Amino acid sequence: MAWDGKVDVLVIGGGMICEDMVLPTLFQERRRGNVGRLQVVALNAAIIKRLRGVFPEEQFEGFPDPAEHPLDEDMPAEYRRLMGELGDHGAVYVTTPDNLHTRMIVEALEAGHGVVSMKPLCLKVAEAYEIIEAMEEHDGYVYTEYHKRRDRAARALRYRYRRGELGEALYGHAWIEEPKYMPLDKFKLWAEKSSPFEYIGTHYADLYHYVTGLMPRRVVAFGQKKYLPRKGSNAYDAVQAVIEWENGSVFWIQTSWVCADDNAQMTQQGMMLQCTGGEYKADHADRNCYFVTDEGGYEHYNPNFMKPYDSWEPGEEVDWTGYGYESCSQGFRDVQFLLHQTEGMSEQDARSRRREIVASWRENGCRALPRQALVAVAINEAARLSVDSGGKFVTFDEKLFPRLQ
Ligand SMILES: NC(=O)c1ccc[n+]([C@@H]2O[C@H](COP(=O)([O-])OP(=O)(O)OC[C@H]3O[C@@H](n4cnc5c(N)ncnc54)[C@H](O)[C@@H]3O)[C@@H](O)[C@H]2O)c1
Repeated sequence: MAWDGKVDVLVIGGGMICEDMVLPTLFQERRRGNVGRLQVVALNAAIIKRLRGVFPEEQFEGFPDPAEHPLDEDMPAEYRRLMGELGDHGAVYVTTPDNLHTRMIVEALEAGHGVVSMKPLCLKVAEAYEIIEAMEEHDGYVYTEYHKRRDRAARALRYRYRRGELGEALYGHAWIEEPKYMPLDKFKLWAEKSSPFEYIGTHYADLYHYVTGLMPRRVVAFGQKKYLPRKGSNAYDAVQAVIEWENGSVFWIQTSWVCADDNAQMTQQGMMLQCTGGEYKADHADRNCYFVTDEGGYEHYNPNFMKPYDSWEPGEEVDWTGYGYESCSQGFRDVQFLLHQTEGMSEQDARSRRREIVASWRENGCRALPRQALVAVAINEAARLSVDSGGKFVTFDEKLFPRLQ
């Protein structure tokens, strides 16, 4: 039977980002006729039950099925069975904690599926090479969902920087900070294994590389543990890193997840860049738009990220739009495009066509394919080495493996 052009999607995870971004994106893609089967595999049936409550109007196949399994029975390998049964037109969304990405991505590539992974691609440079090798071996596709790359405030900087309008980068500064409930509640299971730098600072490490194309030369990082230890957590409150790049420019990224819980925005963030011919300054959270309601109080509203709007399409009620949606659906559309381009070809021809298309995307440089996502992985690993060593410099070898000085 001829393929109907719809991609069957398996989402692994079911936590915060799955609920806030991945599922709304995929439901919309399905309304637009692009998604076939939609399956979500979580660690246990309780998570599926919760998701059904969040999206009462949406149909999806959920595993483990709450009707068949005790809610608290963890089934960490269930995704494997579903990956094996996904068929020839499949995409896998990896939305599990960072430390689980590598295995799941490699297994999805081995099963012949295109992959969209939440950022960061993985935690260690050695793992990134494992993914790169698997992708090359299978002529596969892996997209890391660094959605700040789609923010027009960042795209504008890249566009004008790459055209030479700002001259050459000298130094820059970024901040990205979240409330205390993130390490103490949402991420309490893995906050100690991560840090605000590895979790969210990575966006700006990736962004500097995305904008300038520069590679990192040295990293030094500092961390503080003052508030969270008093609350029974051994995670860092805040981490700051200074990255020196190959042209001698320097970028300071400050991160924290101990901001006030009732902050008017969940993530405060922004960036400045000083160059030889001009400068850029942007608040990436406060877009000068707010609501005040009796129920919710004062709320900074970022209309650019991913928000629901009235749809202009007859018959469609809601249009989720913004850079979160654009980025999250980009990986999906790439997988769909690759499948269209190779439909009906012999395995050998399909591989060579996929190789050609992915090489053209790599050349274009906008997508965080594994070799691009590797840069922020290396900076994350270096920052962790530096902060744990009390602030020593970390350099990189030619393959971006970090070395403590
Ligand atoms: N792009 C962004 O800005 C952004 C924002 C938040 C999170 N993230 C990334 O997304 C990923 C998930 O983050 P989150 O905030 O949703 O975390 P989370 O802890 O809320 O969710 C992770 C989910 O994965 C599930 N899981 C763990 N092991 C599993 C297994 N073997 N099989 C199936 N499910 C399993 C957990 O039960 C949990 O529900 C992380 O890599 C994180 O860094 C990205």
